[in-house]
Parts: sequence; C-alpha cells; structure tokens
Amino acid sequence: MPAITPDWPTTAAEESKWDAVRQLFLNDPDQIYLNTGSWGVLARPVYDALIAAIREQELNPTANRDGLLEGVAQARRRLAGLVNACPEDLTFLMNVTVAVNAVVNGLDWQDGDEILASDQEYGAIDNCLHNASRRWGVTLRRASIPIPPEGPRDVVKAFEAAITDRTRLVLCSHVTTGTGLIAPVKALADLAHAHGALIVIDGAHAPGMIPLDLRAYGCDFYGGNCHKWLCSPKGVGFLHVAPEVQERMKHLVVGWGYSKNGTTKDGDGRPLINGKPYMWGIEQWGTASLPEQVATGEAVRFQTDIGLERIAQRGRQLAGYLRRRMSEFDWAELLSPTHPEMTGSISTFRLSGFGEMKLREPLLQRYRITAPVWREGPHQVVRVSTHIYNSFSQVDRLVEALRELRKGEQQT
Ligand SMILES: Cc1ncc(COP(=O)(O)O)c(C=O)c1O
Repeated sequence: MPAITPDWPTTAAEESKWDAVRQLFLNDPDQIYLNTGSWGVLARPVYDALIAAIREQELNPTANRDGLLEGVAQARRRLAGLVNACPEDLTFLMNVTVAVNAVVNGLDWQDGDEILASDQEYGAIDNCLHNASRRWGVTLRRASIPIPPEGPRDVVKAFEAAITDRTRLVLCSHVTTGTGLIAPVKALADLAHAHGALIVIDGAHAPGMIPLDLRAYGCDFYGGNCHKWLCSPKGVGFLHVAPEVQERMKHLVVGWGYSKNGTTKDGDGRPLINGKPYMWGIEQWGTASLPEQVATGEAVRFQTDIGLERIAQRGRQLAGYLRRRMSEFDWAELLSPTHPEMTGSISTFRLSGFGEMKLREPLLQRYRITAPVWREGPHQVVRVSTHIYNSFSQVDRLVEALRELRKGEQQT
C-alpha cells in the first residue's frame, strides 16, 4: 500500500466537501464521536437502505425472502469488489469474533500443534485462542511486537523469532486494537507458508480504514468487520477463505449448509456444497437477519463513491494533525507507530498527570466527546479514531479538553 502523507490545513473548498459528507451521517452533531474503532456510524443512504429492506421483509416475510437474498448476494459481490476477492470465497458472518472462531474451532488439531499470535490481539480473540489451547490441546505461542515498532520488519522479526516447525496457525490483526498498528500481512503470510503453517488475519478495523487487496495478501483466512470503519449496520462481518483450504475448515454450526453426500467441485476446483459455494454453506446458521447484510451493499457503494484512497487519506490527515497538536505536550506519549506504512486512522496516547480521574466520563459529560480510555498503571491511555465524519475543529476540541482536564487535576 502506498504511504499517504498527511497534509494540512487543506483548502476551504476541500473542507466544504468533507462538511457535506459529514452532514450525511446520523451521529449527533452536538457531540464529537471519536470511536469508530469500536463502532462506526450509519450514513443516511445506508440507514434508508436498511429501513427499506426491513419494510420489504415485513410486508411479506415469506414471499419477499428471495428478493432479500438477492440483495444479500449483491452486497456480497460489492464487498468482494471492495476487498478484491471472489464472492464465492466470501461469506457474511455476524462479526470478526465469529469469523475467527469459525476458523480456530473449525480446523482439525493434532497433538503438538501450535498457534502463534502477536501479543497485541483483541481480548475476545485472545479468549478464543485460550479456549482452543484448553479444548484442543494446542500450545499458544506469542510474537512480541515492540510498541511502537520502527517499521514493518520489526513485526516480521517478532513472528520469525517465535515460529517453530510445529506452528500450524499464525494469527495477527491487520490493524491492532490498541495502537492501530498496520501489520505487514503479506510478509506474515509468506512467513507462515514458508513454515507450512496457515494464517488467519483479524481484519476488524481494516475494511473502510485502508484499501484492501485480499488477492495480493495470499492469506488463508481473513475475517473482517463491516460495522466499524465501513459504517455498515451493526452485526455484519465477513470471512474470506482461500479456495484450497476451505474444506479444511469444518462448519462450526451445521444446518442447511451441509450435505449428507459430501462436497463436489466447480470448474475452478472450488468446493461446492449442495451445488453452491462451500463458503456460503458456512453462513447457513438457520434464520439470520438479512436487512443488515443487504444495507452493507449500500455502505460499500457509499464509500466507493467517495473513494477508498481518499477516505484512508482523510483519516490519516486528521490523525496527523492530532498527533502534531498532542506532540506539544510532554505529558502525552504517542504509542501508535509513525512509520507511514504502519499507521492509519487510529492514534493512541499514553497520558500522565490525570490522577485517578475516570477520564472517559468528563470527556463525555463536560465536553460531549466519545473516545475510549483505559488505565495502564499510573497512566491513562486514550484511543482516538479519526474518520470521514470528523473534522479538524473536533480534533482541536479534544486537545483543548484534555489540556483543561489535566490542568484542573494538577490544581487540585
Ligand atoms: C482487533 C479487533 N478484533 C476483533 C474485534 C471484535 O469485533 P466484534 O466484536 O465486532 O467481533 C475488535 C473490536 O473492537 C478488534 O478491535
């Protein structure tokens, strides 16, 4: 991915285009929402598509189901275009937690197998790995990534140091939850494959934050969320699996996506189940809510129309501005990487001098700013997500709020 250099201030004309984009989103204009890293906000056209699909469904849940399924198929095609993959290799799932569980608990494990994951994985995914170690007897090993790393090579080196000839699965976030580190997923896939291991990428934050090219990465399994940076309805994620390993992943939930006669193959050698792509069988977990998936097609269209590179660039531009402003303070330490290939729209700072304050609360109550904050020993850590509905003035308000709150704490 080419590095995008942040550049500001931008022109008035450019800012007025982003103002128009901002007005299309449903978040409260009197609040500052800096937590896309947890959940994104719906744009009006996506909301309208969701409501239209719900209405269509409720007019006649039986007769109108085929139409909704066609909407899901269209959404899957659009999503496949967004991530550069074949729709046949892609399935919608509720979220990335489910996607990673489908992989980890769908593989057949043997005695002595190891899973190698970074030490910066999301808590729920860590739980999935811990459970696998208990349930399947696999050994869990860690690649320890420096915070912040100087460059992508540091991440590869951390995995090289921990990989063994028993590693069967490598797991890494594409964009880490804590600091927004963008991992070199292609290099990690090459490393895993050179050791005969499979690789699963937790792409919770990537779709909608950075342009994706699943064909180029060559990962066996790639799970993603649509409800963060892609701003789809909540409860929509996906799993992409390379055709040659699809059948190694057994279905986690067995329903209509199963055949007592086993699988067949299509002309390209892809496994089929009941004459349909094997991956689509993975999503046959009984009745699911389809309108959210249908409207995800509109979320893809909305962002594609703006331009995926432009969106990535905007998030970084705001992040770059925030980082420059925060660098004025000796009490704020940037934990996110600064290497241009490793950093996107998440900026995480370790703050000192805020005492025992529960910083998240005054930020929300006094300044109407939403951003996650957690404690790290005597410090507080704040994670700031900058997306296309944020602005330079919102960044200024966050910086001023932090400065004032700290000053107040120092005076007490
Ligand atoms: C890196 C990472 N992985 C997984 C998840 C879990 O996402 P979900 O709850 O949508 O499955 C998150 C959520 O913040 C995350 O940051």
